Amino acid sequence: MPGATLMAMSRVGRADFQPIEVGANDRVFVLTGAGISAESGIATFRDAGGLWEKHRVEDVASPEGWRKDPKLVWRFYSLRRAQALTVEPNAAHIALAKLERAIGDRLFLCTQNVDPLHERGGSERVLHMHGELMKSRCSGCARAPFTDDKSYPDALPVCDRCGGAIRPHICWFGEIPFDMEVIGDALRRSTVFVTIGSSGAVYPAAGFVRAARSFGQRTIYVGPEEPENASAFDECRLGTATQVVPSLFSA
Ligand code: APR
Repeated sequence: MPGATLMAMSRVGRADFQPIEVGANDRVFVLTGAGISAESGIATFRDAGGLWEKHRVEDVASPEGWRKDPKLVWRFYSLRRAQALTVEPNAAHIALAKLERAIGDRLFLCTQNVDPLHERGGSERVLHMHGELMKSRCSGCARAPFTDDKSYPDALPVCDRCGGAIRPHICWFGEIPFDMEVIGDALRRSTVFVTIGSSGAVYPAAGFVRAARSFGQRTIYVGPEEPENASAFDECRLGTATQVVPSLFSA
């Protein structure tokens, strides 16, 4: 009964937050969303009202949008690349890198973000389930995605191997996120599940917490407001990422 779940969920004040003790047998799954990069100056999808220059984000971040107007799509991602080169990781990204140094591969860091701030904060193992802003791939041949921080405001880039169209290495609306099997395995093996800064509105990521609960894991949300899937968390720790994450774990 959803009401009962809500009643059982604790919403504690920031002063009462106890660090999550990560024991030698614990494995921690952390899912991050746009909120972890908000304090670095990258507007969340919601903050932007789902719009970019009066275009719906779905229109520039979907296979349909790409077919209709690839130049517009590249202009959108070119601006995002240029912005990503100017922003810095914040204390929350840095704290997760510190946790990785403490517990190694017992941390599984899965992000919905395409920005490179986890890596710049020092994280070495990051699964970008929605792709990476600073990579491109060929839509025509099987060549592997490659690092690419260039902007393409006018001419469309083409593959120097097959002549196919080069597209951003991003999982667009309507596409299947990357590495779902790897994520599923990590979810099953974890003992603690934490989401930081995600509205809980975009699936499949929004459903991970229910899977974690079904495996008996402790589930915790961090963000300034409750997400849409709040009822699936044991605790919602309300605060911004930089306020909460640096003292979130004790390992
Ligand atoms: N610290 C933590 N969380 C924050 C902060 C902050 N400083 N500021 C905002 N948030 C939270 C908001 O409360 C909201 O829940 O970040 C969340 C941002 O929500 P969305 O913009 O919907 O981002 P996200 O959940 O990551 O979106 C998922 O949708 O746009 C697509 O593919 C894109 O990966 C993205 C996916």
